[in-house]
Amino acid sequence: MQLQIAPSILAADFLNLEKDIRILDEVADIIHLDVMDGTLVPNISFGFPVIEPIAKIASKPLDAHLMIVHPEKYFERFASCGIDMLSFHLEAARRDGTDPCELLAAIRRLGMKAGLVFNPDIPLENVYPYIGSADYLVLMSVYAGFGGQSFIEESYSRLAALKREVSLRNPQCLLEVDGGVTPSNSARLRSLGADILVAGSSVFLSGDPRGTIAALRCD
Ligand code: DX5
Ligand code: ZN
Repeated sequence: MQLQIAPSILAADFLNLEKDIRILDEVADIIHLDVMDGTLVPNISFGFPVIEPIAKIASKPLDAHLMIVHPEKYFERFASCGIDMLSFHLEAARRDGTDPCELLAAIRRLGMKAGLVFNPDIPLENVYPYIGSADYLVLMSVYAGFGGQSFIEESYSRLAALKREVSLRNPQCLLEVDGGVTPSNSARLRSLGADILVAGSSVFLSGDPRGTIAALRCD
């Protein structure tokens, strides 16, 4: 499967968001939307008033990354505003006492692809039981909450180990890597088994989003 690039709009120009969305709609594969609640993660980003108008003009799949507690409260609303891929944190389910398998199934019943995200300090063994129930896994290569952080080097070996386990348990499950992704690490991530790369700062702070997205593809 070809590598897909999912720019995160967290680093976009929010005063001219339409311009950036139109660029992504032309050259990206997926548009990544980072939703933060200030409780699961120590930062607040944006919610439906920003996402709904984006969904109206974007034709590429929308991937919402929920960094919120009680994510299930909003699954229907994300489905009805046109989100295609919806992920929540394993840490959120654990904190709320909900079963990640049930949350993944609920997302799928609403017609969206279901993703499970986990931070760099979560042992991979804690993720393995859910591989069979997920359409995609999001390996955080920085701690969720802020754009612009440096890629954590241990993420390479975590990705390789996760890829091996996914091949055994559910080869259809895609692997997404999120955080600190740049054109200088994308080829290695692809070779270790990443299917989707999320990149915010490297795309939007480069001054050349189109060129950076092309470079991330490492074709
Ligand atoms: C971090 C977010 C990422 C972030 C990526 O909590 O999940 O999607 O926006 O941004 P960069 O590419 O700047 O690390
Ligand atoms: Zn994200």
